[in-house]
Amino acid sequence: MSDAWTSKFFRRALNHVVLFTGTQVLFLPLNKNYTGRMLIWTIIEQIAVRSVVFPATGALQYNHSSPGDPFTMNKKSIASVADSSVSTALASKIFDELAVATGDGVGITRSSYGPGETRAIEIVDSRARELGLRTERDEVANLIVTLDGSEPELPFVAAGSHLDSVPQGGNFDGSAGVLAVLVSLAALKAEGVKPRRTIKLFALRGEESARFGKPYLGSSALFGRISPVDLQSRSTDTAETLAECMGQLGIDVDRVARGERFLDPARIAAWFELHIEQGPVLTDRNLPVGIVTGIRGNIRHRGIQCRGEAGHSGAVPRWLRRDAVFASAELITHLDRHWRTLLERGRDLVVTSGMFGTDQREHALARIPGNVQFSFEARSQSKETLESFYDLFLSECQMIGEERGVEFILDRRFDTQPASMDPDWIKRLRSIAARLGIQTEDLPSGAGHDAAVFANEGVPSAMIFVRNANGSHNPHEAMSLNDFGAGAALMRAAIEEAAQ
Ligand code: GLV
Ligand code: MN
Ligand code: MN
Repeated sequence: MSDAWTSKFFRRALNHVVLFTGTQVLFLPLNKNYTGRMLIWTIIEQIAVRSVVFPATGALQYNHSSPGDPFTMNKKSIASVADSSVSTALASKIFDELAVATGDGVGITRSSYGPGETRAIEIVDSRARELGLRTERDEVANLIVTLDGSEPELPFVAAGSHLDSVPQGGNFDGSAGVLAVLVSLAALKAEGVKPRRTIKLFALRGEESARFGKPYLGSSALFGRISPVDLQSRSTDTAETLAECMGQLGIDVDRVARGERFLDPARIAAWFELHIEQGPVLTDRNLPVGIVTGIRGNIRHRGIQCRGEAGHSGAVPRWLRRDAVFASAELITHLDRHWRTLLERGRDLVVTSGMFGTDQREHALARIPGNVQFSFEARSQSKETLESFYDLFLSECQMIGEERGVEFILDRRFDTQPASMDPDWIKRLRSIAARLGIQTEDLPSGAGHDAAVFANEGVPSAMIFVRNANGSHNPHEAMSLNDFGAGAALMRAAIEEAAQ
């Protein structure tokens, strides 16, 4: 046992109740600001809820006894503890509450501007008020939680993420970023820290494109970036328009349609967002936390129609067929080749057709398919790469259409712009992480985040990624509380520094 390890052990023991359970040694934090209630909760959580499978959401598991568990005495976790400045037990309790309240039997569903998202907002709102924080809804029904600064006229520090999800998604996508800021504000409040600048947590609605096609709806609405056409997009589940769903939440849709700006970006000193990494890089690199350099933009279509001609599968020879499946499959294959060529030339690009199919009301084993519908999505850090790839896509639609006697009919094109994170804040996050003893690495974000909207409005923006196994947009996301604690500690220190 090294001297450094022994000294860390005893330093930690001084601030904790040490509990011997027979198989392990637990450190229960004795934070003077979280007396009584938090200590009792922590003891119950540590002893009784070590590995939870939620009754309502059988697929969701928090493996609290993973090797990364912050309270399990092992050298690795003690060496990486950076979470004493925020309460991971509090976050864990709210994660659990969100999972139970919005579980759908497979994963969690908090559809944009729908009931699950509203339920999640209500839960965070109640917990924030219990913690003595001020809460309100902005003009477009996002939740704002405020910790007042001593100089409220200064531009404020904004931080947060989204509370909606894809259908049957994971519990951490979005909510991790909201709860990281909530526990940071709770800690600052409990410790009596009075920042110079006001700090505001934004729990945003409608980040996911799953329901209305356009992502970042909650943040875009704040800056007057929702168009009348966007408001007429129909939801994939109830077929209601975005305008109808917003109206049901009491939002003045006419003001949104007029492009009114409810938030002046000049009033925001900086935007911070923590998010689970939705790819495998941090897991592969064995790092708890990453610092995001930029966010990919995208071009998308929700439903492209390929129209050919239905026919008898035995009776029509190849040269007279207008088969929509073969034509669409050829299109996708050609796009894959162009994608590979662009990668070989060093371009950043990912391409997906996530929804693809014949209509089950008319398709049959012995029928040449006359119709196929599929989605198109290309993402890149470079707008120029996106546009070049999109041009290739259009010319392939034209050529394959002519050769195979089909027509590709494009629905509305959705765009999001790539974004760069603020170079100064990237450097500052690196040095705060080093000071806290958190190992990090810089990485770009393949997935989209509200931080892109804030950055493109000119707000200096920064993002923290937390390691997460099993990908995202599925119920199997897995983030350890230890990693969350490290990311949240970094968030707390960053917003505290930005608010000075
Ligand atoms: C957001 O989750 C995205 O689709 O990038
Ligand atoms: Mn998502
Ligand atoms: Mn997300």
